[in-house]
Amino acid sequence: MRFYLDHAATTPLRPEAREAWLAASDVVGNASSTHGAGQDARRLLEDSRERIAEVLGSDPIEVVLTSGGTESINTALRGLWTSRAADADTVVLPDGEHHATMDTVAALASDGAAVRAVALSGTGRIEPEIFRAALPGAALATALVANNEVGTVNDAPALSAAAAHSGVPLHLDAVAALGHVPLSFRELRGDAAAGAGLVAMSVAGHKIGAPVGVGALVVARTAKMVPLLHGGAQQRGLRAGTQDVPGAAAFAAALSAAEDEREAEAARLRALRDRLISGIRSAVPLARLLGDPVDRLPGNAHFLFPGAVGESLLFLLDVAGVAASTGSACQAGVAEPSHVVMAMGGSEQDARSVLRFTLGRTSTDADVDAVLTAIADAYARASGSRTAQRS
Ligand SMILES: Cc1ncc(COP(=O)(O)O)c(C=O)c1O
Repeated sequence: MRFYLDHAATTPLRPEAREAWLAASDVVGNASSTHGAGQDARRLLEDSRERIAEVLGSDPIEVVLTSGGTESINTALRGLWTSRAADADTVVLPDGEHHATMDTVAALASDGAAVRAVALSGTGRIEPEIFRAALPGAALATALVANNEVGTVNDAPALSAAAAHSGVPLHLDAVAALGHVPLSFRELRGDAAAGAGLVAMSVAGHKIGAPVGVGALVVARTAKMVPLLHGGAQQRGLRAGTQDVPGAAAFAAALSAAEDEREAEAARLRALRDRLISGIRSAVPLARLLGDPVDRLPGNAHFLFPGAVGESLLFLLDVAGVAASTGSACQAGVAEPSHVVMAMGGSEQDARSVLRFTLGRTSTDADVDAVLTAIADAYARASGSRTAQRS
């Protein structure tokens, strides 16, 4: 048996998304063509965009479809920075962001951007007051709605209000939060002046049961953003290229279904997760839950296992059929210490001794039981293997 507890890395395809993708894949036509076939594709595309916009609390025209979170984030950050006022070149970057954000900002820094860091709290939270203090005079700011590693949910309304107050355009990375916490672009934006406050928000379909390869960047009509891709005039000229109609249809279907179930599913996952947390604490008394104990994603349990190497635990659990993660999947191939755990004040050793379990739509009690059956032995062996390596 295989037990999948890595829903933060990617999620199983939802049946609604598969059906919508298959039905749309039979529609032949480029949505930009003016003939009847093209118009059929166009109708399906725009209907999907409307459904996506409805869930995200935006106008359909604000939804720019992309290939996923990484493209959305690159488009937003480089696009906003390139269109900045001549005298503003600073990017406000909280510690512990996803690598898609960190590495894009690093690339902007090599093009001349100044970077102003914002320290995280010990629970992985971006404190609104510290964020606010970093904003004056900045060209743009970015922040996670929820941290994808430790699961801490930030006060996005407060971060957005701070940016609006300082007249700074804000991008939110909502990839990990999508489907788990309420997200309304309109409400988060409030009555911010044109070009200030929340102007862009990134999401990805594969985190909520849509296929990999589709996502969105919500871009306020008033945002000043230079496109990353050049070519056709599709999507307000912000994302050139023939649009992926089946991808959009699948994303819309998955998102609507996830939103319909969000509250009930969050309660179910919280109960499962809390059983997982208390079970791990009983099986491994030294294990410490990281992240915010209350404001955290409903399916996230992130633990520090002192003295064990996370990669060894991961391997031993995998042998027992349990799929977990040491951090963001994008980094898991490379045995790096978690930059999030270090930003929260952990040592490099701590940052190598963490494991993330994330639950989702298909998770059941059997998944929790599988972890609880295997974890004590895996911990004993992983902490022993570390001692053995040292001697
Ligand atoms: C918070 C966050 N941002 C961005 C990304 C990148 O998204 P994608 O994998 O769709 O490119 C991820 C993926 O793990 C994520 O968790």
